[in-house]
Amino acid sequence: MGPLSAPPCTQRITWKGLLLTASLLNFWNLPTTAEVTIEAQPPKVSEGKDVLLLVHNLPQNLPGYFWYKGQLTDLYHYIISYIVDGKIIIYGPAYSGRETVYSNASLLIQNVTREDAGTYTLHIIKRSDETREEIRYFTVTLYLKLPKPYITINNSKPRENKDVLAFTCEPKSENYTYTWWLNGQSLPVSPRVKRPIENRILILPSVTRNETGPYECEIRDGDGGMRSDPVTLNVLYGPDLPRIYPSFTYYRSGQNFDLSCFADSNPPAQYSWTINGKFQLSGQKLSISQITTKHSGLYACSVHNSATGKESSKSMTVEVSAPPGIGRLPLLNPI
Ligand SMILES: *[C@@H]1O[C@H](CO)[C@@H](O)[C@H](O)[C@H]1NC(C)=O
Ligand SMILES: *[C@@H]1O[C@H](CO)[C@@H](O)[C@H](O)[C@H]1NC(C)=O
Ligand SMILES: *[C@@H]1O[C@H](CO)[C@@H](O)[C@H](O)[C@H]1NC(C)=O
Ligand SMILES: *[C@@H]1O[C@H](CO)[C@@H](O)[C@H](O)[C@H]1NC(C)=O
Ligand SMILES: *[C@@H]1O[C@H](CO)[C@@H](O)[C@H](O)[C@H]1NC(C)=O
Repeated sequence: MGPLSAPPCTQRITWKGLLLTASLLNFWNLPTTAEVTIEAQPPKVSEGKDVLLLVHNLPQNLPGYFWYKGQLTDLYHYIISYIVDGKIIIYGPAYSGRETVYSNASLLIQNVTREDAGTYTLHIIKRSDETREEIRYFTVTLYLKLPKPYITINNSKPRENKDVLAFTCEPKSENYTYTWWLNGQSLPVSPRVKRPIENRILILPSVTRNETGPYECEIRDGDGGMRSDPVTLNVLYGPDLPRIYPSFTYYRSGQNFDLSCFADSNPPAQYSWTINGKFQLSGQKLSISQITTKHSGLYACSVHNSATGKESSKSMTVEVSAPPGIGRLPLLNPI
């Protein structure tokens, strides 16, 4: 479809006076070397950005230019026009307040919205002699870039093996297909993962600490795709069964004695120590300088995570032997 097959200007329009000769629907042939072309700059525009519909090879001495939204050049679709005599700009019903027409016929559209996408028609009039004017139409299509999708999560701190989690990819559109990525790999279809509603929502029936992410979602339409920023989950878990270091159980009197306890947990666990069931101190480390035989006993480390409500503990029996002198005492004083 060439510009010549564009619908002719309707004669019922009331602003015909401006066009003066809109009823003279004579088309002229431009030299093929100087065909008028319109280029969108940039070719694909993001919502909120500006685009210039740049008109190339505009013939000289034109009395005016008219821009329409769509391919119908009726009053309803009339955006803006530039009348060269007097440099007059006239606004039509389709003017949104964001369009600017320049004296070279180019049209600037600022703060582009989704509704701005589509075809634009430039209508130019050429004086061929004193009495006749000729009209031609040229079109350009404005394409929008896909918006950058983003992920929403209905629980920002899920507990391991406990909470059901729903990820949603925004924005919603029947025109997009949605894909999910975990650690840069397309999420495999697993029975653990349910994807109702066209894949836009991803449900994890239970999440483990190994599934923190990064998660990404991607939207695609007919001619492109766009991926979201990655999202990492803060999975609350633990505390796991604690371990006590070092694991030696025999000590000699007079030695310095240091025990550490560690349990994997998010957030980090709170630690406490008991000796023979009696509370000793809070914290991960238990230190006693120069232990004696009376420090023998059952040492237990307890861990607690208030975010998961879980706790755990580990104990070990420590034996402290008497110093060599005391050990030989019975020999010095035989019964
Ligand atoms: C475009 O948007 C910006 C920021 O929202 C605003 O300041 C500006 O006036 C807008 N321009 C037009 C032509 O609407
Ligand atoms: C028309 O004018 C606009 C604004 O001054 C300018 O950005 C654009 O490059 C001009 N178009 C051409 C084809 O020179
Ligand atoms: C999140 O969505 C899932 C699935 O719809 C639901 O089972 C779960 O209860 C929701 N969690 C919260 C905190 O709303
Ligand atoms: C989906 O595409 C159709 C045809 O291109 C368009 O008319 C409609 O506005 C689009 N829907 C959304 C939500 O963008
Ligand atoms: C997490 O991954 C590690 C190493 O792959 C594995 O040993 C561990 O069992 C996993 N933990 C859970 C809770 O799935």
